[in-house]
Amino acid sequence: MKLSDSESDTLLGGRFTLPGTSLTVHRMGYGAMQLAGPGVWGPPKNPDAAIAVLREAVAAGVNHIDTSDFYGPHLTNQIIRKALHPYPAGLVIVTKLGTRRPPDKSWQLAISPEELTAGVHDNLRNLGLDALDIVNYRVLGSGHGPAEGSIAEQVTVLADLRGKGLIRHIGVSNVTAAQVAEARAITDIVCVQNNYNLAHRHDDALIDDLARQGIAYVPYFPLGGFTPLQSTTLSAVADRLGARPMQVALAWLLHRSPNILLIPGTSSVAHLRENLAAARLSLSSQTLAELETIATGG
Ligand SMILES: NC(=O)c1ccc[n+]([C@@H]2O[C@H](COP(=O)([O-])OP(=O)(O)OC[C@H]3O[C@@H](n4cnc5c(N)ncnc54)[C@H](OP(=O)(O)O)[C@@H]3O)[C@@H](O)[C@H]2O)c1
Repeated sequence: MKLSDSESDTLLGGRFTLPGTSLTVHRMGYGAMQLAGPGVWGPPKNPDAAIAVLREAVAAGVNHIDTSDFYGPHLTNQIIRKALHPYPAGLVIVTKLGTRRPPDKSWQLAISPEELTAGVHDNLRNLGLDALDIVNYRVLGSGHGPAEGSIAEQVTVLADLRGKGLIRHIGVSNVTAAQVAEARAITDIVCVQNNYNLAHRHDDALIDDLARQGIAYVPYFPLGGFTPLQSTTLSAVADRLGARPMQVALAWLLHRSPNILLIPGTSSVAHLRENLAAARLSLSSQTLAELETIATGG
């Protein structure tokens, strides 16, 4: 059953228009990284389940999917294509560049103009697209998070590829506030994708600043990523609301700032349903204050 616009707005956290674009997405989206095999390498354990997750997400009204050609590598994009192509009108697929996965399964830089250009063509081919809606330049960082350093050369390459019509819009990922400012001085930036969740609040000031500029902030690891969030406070709040802890973690992000767009990752239809339902949870100011203590260690 196809949902009406107003139904999916209510169910999926409302809408957000990426600045300076005609792209409007529901705030509750989906991240495809969990569809690859262990270590984000190789095919999924259950390829039919991966297809089912993607189809159910879109049927439920999700119109923002985050991916990368270095997930699998290549395989995650190929699964998205198999599940969803020809893509429904309004579906925004966001991908990222800056890394390659050699056969030893490590994560290596791929940031030369030639590598970035090849990465765009890999995404186009494997997703079955003529142009990519949004490409994030993903900075490799220090291993523990963003590391300062100029990203001007890579952002300029992406702006050139946009000039050639291969990319529609540009974002940045795993970046510091200074790198966001550097990128914005070169070209329009529509979104920033960084590690952020209830327990990992390093980007609080950046989120507020981006909200003032109308730029989307898309937390990766919204549920804690490879080590899912665990907190007695989170569990107690969830019990009281009759919800699951992961749902409260997602609902908190939607309450945190109107420019936050969610891309929780899952390989399971059951978890997908739980995650989408989180957009219907309303958190009182008292509950929000309680959840704040998770980050402050209270
Ligand atoms: N830009 C970047 O550098 C970067 C880095 C990492 C990720 N990303 C993007 O961000 C997206 C989200 O991050 P993520 O997938 O790594 O981490 P996440 O969304 O924080 O958490 C995913 C983990 O939580 C589990 N999970 C999901 N829903 C659950 C539920 N309702 N109950 C219990 N467990 C649940 C998943 O396992 P199951 O599969 O069993 O549900 C998986 O182990 C990715 O899919 C990817 O698109 C971007």
